[in-house]
Amino acid sequence: MESPNCTLAVYPGSFDPITNGHLDLITRGLKLFDRIIIAVAVNPAKTPLFTLEERLELIKESLRDYPQRHRIEVDAFEGLLMDYVKRVNAKAILRGLRAVSDFEYEFQMALMNRRLNSDVETFFLMTGMRWIYISSRIIKEVVMAGGSVTGLVPEPVEKKLLEKLNPGALEQERNFP
Ligand code: PNS
Repeated sequence: MESPNCTLAVYPGSFDPITNGHLDLITRGLKLFDRIIIAVAVNPAKTPLFTLEERLELIKESLRDYPQRHRIEVDAFEGLLMDYVKRVNAKAILRGLRAVSDFEYEFQMALMNRRLNSDVETFFLMTGMRWIYISSRIIKEVVMAGGSVTGLVPEPVEKKLLEKLNPGALEQERNFP
């Protein structure tokens, strides 16, 4: 049975798709929390590249050999994040901050979430310097334009991105490895 003192954080996001920056944040988060739930948002206002099922599957595949896998859960949520956080009985939300440009949006979101439930705190962790310039959006842009994202996303994600956005490059790689 789980200890009542076990600390749990929800790490929400679109994860369209998961990047090495996200994985870095999870590693940092696991130094502070016993368990982390990666909560993938079903956001009807956004049109993601990957379906919800694909995003969940890519996260799971990317974590397959992760040493702390047993401390991570992967789930989806719809509607208000704070309703989900309450449902899973968490007291903490984890978010990454890359640069000043992230701050305004994150600040707004954290304050709104606090207004919705002041018992839950948002924890911001600085992304590792290696990943400071990457985002799911820029990764997709680069792949679509024919650039390489090797080393910036987990392997299964790179493969799936090529399949969706640049199938020609994948074919070439197969023929001339
Ligand atoms: O990775 P993202 O797209 O920056 O993640 C944003 C996300 C999913 C965390 C945010 O949009 C969210 O929490 N959506 C759920 C709806 C909600 O609770 N909105 C109010 C919070 S301001």
